[in-house]
Formats: sequence, C-alpha cells, structure tokens
Amino acid sequence: MEEIIKTLYSGVQPTNNLTIGNYIGTLRSWRGLQENYNCIFAAANMHAITVRQNPAELRQKTLSLVALFLACGVNPQKSIVYVQSHVPAHAELCWALNTFTYVGEMERMTQYKDKSSRHADNINMGLMDYPVLMAADILLYQTDLVPVGLDQRQHLEIARDIAVRFNNAYTPTFTVPEGLYPKMGAKIADLQDPAKKMSKSAENPNGAVFLSDDKDTVMRKFKRAVTDSENAVKYNPESKAGVSNLLTVYCAFSGKSLEEAEKEFEGKGYGDFKLAVGETVADSLAPMQAEHKRLLADKAYLESVMADGADKAEKLARKTLSKVYKKIGFYQI
Ligand code: TRP
Repeated sequence: MEEIIKTLYSGVQPTNNLTIGNYIGTLRSWRGLQENYNCIFAAANMHAITVRQNPAELRQKTLSLVALFLACGVNPQKSIVYVQSHVPAHAELCWALNTFTYVGEMERMTQYKDKSSRHADNINMGLMDYPVLMAADILLYQTDLVPVGLDQRQHLEIARDIAVRFNNAYTPTFTVPEGLYPKMGAKIADLQDPAKKMSKSAENPNGAVFLSDDKDTVMRKFKRAVTDSENAVKYNPESKAGVSNLLTVYCAFSGKSLEEAEKEFEGKGYGDFKLAVGETVADSLAPMQAEHKRLLADKAYLESVMADGADKAEKLARKTLSKVYKKIGFYQI
C-alpha cells in the first residue's frame, strides 16, 4: 500500500520579532517535520499589513524571514518556502471564503479585540478579516496539520469551521486541518515578569530574548532576569516563577532534564546559574545566526528560493481555487 504523506502548513509574519520562545516552540521543530510531512512554510506579509508597516522595513524583514527559515534548517528542495503575496490565490480564496464567514464570528475573535484596542486609530477591515485570510492560507493546500502556538488556536478553529461549512454547502472540497500544538512545559515566560509569556511586545525590553540578539545582549538579559531571594536553583513554577522559567530555558537549549539541571546547580548561586543559562542559549543560537547572516548576504539565492517556492505553491493553490470557483458557480472559460 502506498503511504500517504500528510501536508503541514505554517506561516510567520515577517514583522514578528521572533524570540527564543518562538524558536523552541516552533521554528526549531521545522527541520525535523520535513522528514515526515510535505511542508509548506510562508512569510505571511499580507497578514502583516493589517497593522501599519514601514514599507522598506517590511521588504527587508520578509527577506530576512525567508533566510531565517533556511537558517533553521528548512530545506527548500524538500519543502515549499514562499512569500504569501507572491501567490495571488490567497487573496482570491479569502474573498470567496468571506462569504462563508459571519461578521459576528470575526468580532468575537480574541486577537481582533486585542489588536483593535491596541491600534484604535486603525481598526481596518483587514484586521477583522485576518482569520479568513489565514483560513485561505491553510485550506488552499489541503493542509492536514498546522503547527501553531496557542495564541493561534482560535484562528485555526475558525479555519476548520469554514472548511466544514463550505464542504457541507457543496461537496467535500477542503481537507479539514488539525492543529499541532507545542508540548507543554516548553512555554517560555518574560525574564522580567515571569507571569507573562515572553513576547516582542514586552514592556521591559530586557524581558524578551530575540533570535537576532548577539551574545553580549543575551548575556546581559539573562544576568538581569528576575529571580527570588532564596538563592536555590529549584523548579517550582508557583513559588519560584523566575528561576523555574530560567530552568525551562536551560533545559530546552541544553537538552538536559530538570533533575539533571537542578543537580548541576546545587549549591551554586544565581549569578553562576544565570551565566550558564545565557551561555547555553547564546552558544546554541550562534550557528543559526551565522547561517542567517551568510544567507542574507546572498540576496540572489534567497530570491531564487522565493521564486521557486511561489511557483510550486501557486500550482497547488490554483488546483484548490479552481475547484472552489467551479462549485460556487463562477463562469469558467
Ligand atoms: N497568524 C499567524 C501568526 O501570527 C501567522 C500565519 C498566517 C499562519 N497564516 C498562517 C500560521 C497559516 C499558520 C497557518 O502567528
């Protein structure tokens, strides 16, 4: 019997300043996923413009994100790597799916409510339509699996709802995708406020470690990380949130277990501990950062990857889109 290889799709907005949390939860796993699935990875620049962007920066960040995918081990010969705006079928399917999506559903989306309160001067239609565009991304490729963070779960659920709705209105057209959520325990908190998730929008810039941070910056941020007055490197997320978070980071990057880590730092002070965490993170990021830098200097290569990816994506996407157009009654010539 022929083995059916599942399709996996994921997108990242080029404007997300990615943190070590994104790396551990998502990017780092892409290399391995390619062994088991047909993978498609997109730089979601059409999603990015739902909040105002500086055009030159958006262009540069798009190139940089494609380079980052490759630096994290995505093989463009094996997987499809492309830029969302290079494949017009995304906007086209989004339009059709808009007519299968209710305004009320979109108004209830957590991220929409959050973003419209943070960008109250620019509550544009795109911001509200964001989940439908994401549904189009996913459904165009007959995606089986979508690795996303928990913050995107609601968007994935709506993509599933839209797929089912369309399938029921006509005949089965879309694969109904499943979410692939990161394993518990790998959640990284803000270094300055361990009650919060580490994110780019951290109030205190020392709270988040970015993938682009150099070793000095990484070391400085870990040195300043919030701990407690006990001076014991023990895992207890309730009473020792800061130290426990540092232990989680240390284990995620060193591959050691919590027990091993606790043992290693027994009798040592927080100073030594933080130094070790910083070193481990900085040293594990270094090869990826070097590769990213090397790739960014080779714009011609990156553009060839984008062009090739867009080509392959377009072919798959067109197939789904023409099925949709046929079913909804668009005149075909
Ligand atoms: N909305 C996602 C995020 O900000 C990015 C994204 C766009 C995406 N299209 C997607 C993720 C399709 C998964 C599948 O994280």
